[in-house]
Amino acid sequence: MAKTITVIPGDGIGPEVTSATLQILEAAGAELEYDEQVAGVAGVDQLKSPLPEITLESIRRNAVCLKGPLTTPVGTGFRSINVAIRKEFDLYANVRPALSMTDDGRYKDIDLVLIRENTEGLYVGVEHYIGLEGDPRAAAESVMIITRFGAERVVRYAFEYAVANDRKKVTLAHKANILKYTQGLFLDVGREVAKEYEGTIEFEDRIIDATAMQLVTDPYDFDVLVMENMFGDILSDLMAGLVGGLGLAPAANIGKDAAMFEAVHGSAPDIAGKGIANPTSLTLSAVMLLEHIGQDEVAGRIRSALRTTLADPENRTGDLGGSLGTDAFTSAVIRNLA
Ligand code: NAI
Ligand code: MG
Repeated sequence: MAKTITVIPGDGIGPEVTSATLQILEAAGAELEYDEQVAGVAGVDQLKSPLPEITLESIRRNAVCLKGPLTTPVGTGFRSINVAIRKEFDLYANVRPALSMTDDGRYKDIDLVLIRENTEGLYVGVEHYIGLEGDPRAAAESVMIITRFGAERVVRYAFEYAVANDRKKVTLAHKANILKYTQGLFLDVGREVAKEYEGTIEFEDRIIDATAMQLVTDPYDFDVLVMENMFGDILSDLMAGLVGGLGLAPAANIGKDAAMFEAVHGSAPDIAGKGIANPTSLTLSAVMLLEHIGQDEVAGRIRSALRTTLADPENRTGDLGGSLGTDAFTSAVIRNLA
């Protein structure tokens, strides 16, 4: 039976890459029904809210959502709609694979997965200015919050991911040498959880700055990585760079009761409406969605069709140095579906 998912086309290039992705899903025979909803600028335009209740209800009902990039309209009381959705559904694990899709990139055969804690750290929004001697902004403070609960569930997710996907090693990256309390707690909890997987999944910890360098000099020395929110934000973009950039980077946001799949890139206002956006990032996110709901066979065929298409430099979109527009690229992927 077809699974109904919430689809939010999003803003900027969102509708273009969403339409391309849905065409590919359809052609590949994914068993999905779409409950289309709005958010972001489209939400304000159509329903006077950047995050309408009807959209939230749809995600609650379907538990699975495919989301295009959203522009957070200024002055609507949201710091970021994306962060608001992650909070609303407690999507605590941000899963960001870095998988080589071509053979002519900076590195060949990269296959890494970063699991980023998605609800705590500096993203809790506990920050304020401190006024001094007539200067209301003489200083500023942002509080990093790590809880045993939050650290444990994300590290456990990383290990369970490793087990389920035949991975060998989990690397916990941290800064416990300096941030002894917050990062120290994250590391301690990580070590405790790792003990339960001894003999099954190898575990190591590394300092975050050294990890950044080692990811560039020897990415093959890593497998699954887990870290707190901001470190994960930064290193996952670095890892996207190892395999060709934002146009190829998918993401899943996983919670206990819901999961949201989205491209890593934003709404790209500079190229919106021009028909040149690369849909691969969102399509790979849809591939992760299919795997999440057990449609692995269709997922595998879409991933190979993308790989076959991207193998020929002539068959790429502008961001990857090619000359195809979104529609021509999408047709090529559909032709390559085995
Ligand atoms: P961006 O990712 O939208 O664009 C950065 C650069 O990459 C631009 O030059 C853009 O043209 C290019 N680019 C991005 N995706 C592309 C694609 N699929 N194909 C070809 N080229 C692509 O980041 P930017 O400009 O910082 O943010 C624009 C808006 O997007 C902002 O309002 C931001 O808040 C929002 N945003 C939303 C995200 C989400 O919904 N998850 C994530 C990141 C940003
Ligand atoms: Mg980021």
